[in-house]
Amino acid sequence: MKVLGIESSCDETGAAVVDETGMVFADVVASQIALHAPYGGVVPELAARAHMKNVTHVVRAALEKLEGGLAAVDAIAVTQGPGLVGALLVGTSAAKAMAWSLDKPLVGVNHLEGHLLAPFLRRREDEDPGLFFPYVALLASGGHTALYRVDSPTEIELLGQTRDDAAGEAYDKAAKLLGLGYPGGPILDRLAARGDASASPFAVPMQKKRGLEFSFAGLKTAVARQIEREGAPSDEAGLADVAAGFQAAAVRSLVETSIRACREVGVPRLVLTGGVAANSGLRALATARCDEEEIALVIPPFSSCTDNAAMIAYAGAQRLLLRGPDTLGLAPYSRDPLRRRGRFGADGALIPRRPPG
Ligand code: KG4
Ligand code: ZN
Repeated sequence: MKVLGIESSCDETGAAVVDETGMVFADVVASQIALHAPYGGVVPELAARAHMKNVTHVVRAALEKLEGGLAAVDAIAVTQGPGLVGALLVGTSAAKAMAWSLDKPLVGVNHLEGHLLAPFLRRREDEDPGLFFPYVALLASGGHTALYRVDSPTEIELLGQTRDDAAGEAYDKAAKLLGLGYPGGPILDRLAARGDASASPFAVPMQKKRGLEFSFAGLKTAVARQIEREGAPSDEAGLADVAAGFQAAAVRSLVETSIRACREVGVPRLVLTGGVAANSGLRALATARCDEEEIALVIPPFSSCTDNAAMIAYAGAQRLLLRGPDTLGLAPYSRDPLRRRGRFGADGALIPRRPPG
């Protein structure tokens, strides 16, 4: 079964074709980073307009890469939420129009479910992620930072999440305070590699509580206070030290809390996903600590970690097989049903029939 996936929840327009085994046949992403960079963050109205401009081209480009083109597509999956509603409306409208005119099944996908299943994507026939259920997943991106226990494609339990800022958001805000560009994550990551964390130490958030929650607002505020006291470093060496100190604290909190989650639920398998999973400090510390704790660590390639439509197509294929298609009445939702604490079984509660808000 080949599923065409469409993603438009934030600032990437994506289209991809993936089958139920995770094999990726086409994967196209049009990024809007340059469009939003002058504003230092995503502007929802501009995002929706750019999705409108791009969606047809991106879908066409994906279908051109697929042997047999449109005729080879069996079903259409689309990100239903959470995300910017104006942006989601573009993707869901395009998907509905295609499903209706081609008379193919349509399925709405929770964007976070997509991120959590991304490690199963395969870009070569012989690729094997070496991962099986259940596993613990850390999803850390610009909009979300949370830990989940994943028992199957449709049984996902929220274990803990951030009380305030997402990890990527904290990176972006800290970079802005330091007068660096957008998005700040990759810039701070590169700088941190050249800095000395002990020259600019920050407290590791939430480590005394020993729970499974995160908090990054305090770390961002600590950077702001330091700049108020001493001014932003004027040379690259000084900036690198602050970046290294920030990164050491952020990454330590992400890794230790994830390891605690694995121990607490008794599952020695950890997946890192979301844009922040690209972070070199996070990858290095997670690799070393998981090795010590005998936890198998899986980090999907960068293109599967950041927003993409392949993960949406794959999650859609699983949902279609397990629960069947949605109707053309499918409506986008901005808030995340996965945020509700607790276990969600195969009864459809994971993605409510009538989305909240
Ligand atoms: O998953 P993603 O592409 O989009 C969503 O937020 O859904 O994640 C983007 C976020 C941004 O906040 C960006 O600064 C952060 O991921 N990011 C990084 C790195 N690369 C991207 N954060 C830290 N280190 C990186 N190398
Ligand atoms: Zn995302």
